[in-house]
Amino acid sequence: MATLGFGIDIGGSGIKGAAVDLETGLLATERFKVLTPQPSTPPAVAGAVAKVVGHFGWQGPLGCTFPAVVQEGVARTAANVDHSWIGTNIETVMGAATGLPVTAVNDADAAGVAETKWGAAQGIRGLVIMVTLGTGIGTSLFYNGVLIPNSELGHIELDGGDYEPKASGAAREREALSWEKWAKRLQRYFSALEFLLRPSLFVVGGGVSRRSEKFLPLLVLDAPIVPARFQNEAGIAGVAFMAAEAAGAATGRPVPPPERGARTGAPRPA
Ligand code: BGC
Repeated sequence: MATLGFGIDIGGSGIKGAAVDLETGLLATERFKVLTPQPSTPPAVAGAVAKVVGHFGWQGPLGCTFPAVVQEGVARTAANVDHSWIGTNIETVMGAATGLPVTAVNDADAAGVAETKWGAAQGIRGLVIMVTLGTGIGTSLFYNGVLIPNSELGHIELDGGDYEPKASGAAREREALSWEKWAKRLQRYFSALEFLLRPSLFVVGGGVSRRSEKFLPLLVLDAPIVPARFQNEAGIAGVAFMAAEAAGAATGRPVPPPERGARTGAPRPA
């Protein structure tokens, strides 16, 4: 039987969770999603997370991605969530709401972990830059497969300002940009990253990576640029793995399977 983990992806607009097959990174259940409460304060978001966990009756280590800098479980920034998160220990708040041991990490870092372990960046040497294009722009860096956390390259300043509001997935929708117009901004962005960091590979995730054939072929870079294998589910898969690892390290034992099993379903194709 597959070893399961559980991941929740906390975003500015939705909070999604699913059980994950830790051998393959594929979701072992359908995703369950609730809207992110507004304002997205710690108690409100914790309540929503508890609802997602309760939907599955999950018991075991819980991984939570968070759309901000997260150090030792504490949110240090809050670009697309309520500012009262800054300085809050996400693991403590979510742990109290769910009764589970929680590991919280930056959302793009979690997505990159899944791609490095099972996906588009598996076995790549040198520097890999994962970029998630959604409400914000998230980035994660891996050198020879090792995560360098909290890189925040979505906020590099280009043409006189933070480039996230110009090139994010949300910017494309908000300004109703054609694929070509959006790709011009992406070109500016990825060229800047390439000039500064010279990666071996770019991996592009976020919801829009589902439509990567519309914009990735328009980009001209020295490094290959490929869509994330797990698309928008990479964060859930990566953080489920990170939580299971943390729980194993804490107890010194292999991670136990969930006591009350998560709902089972056919694994979704990658
Ligand atoms: C945040 C990052 C996050 C990204 C994607 C950015 O605005 O600063 O921490 O990874 O959005 O959610």
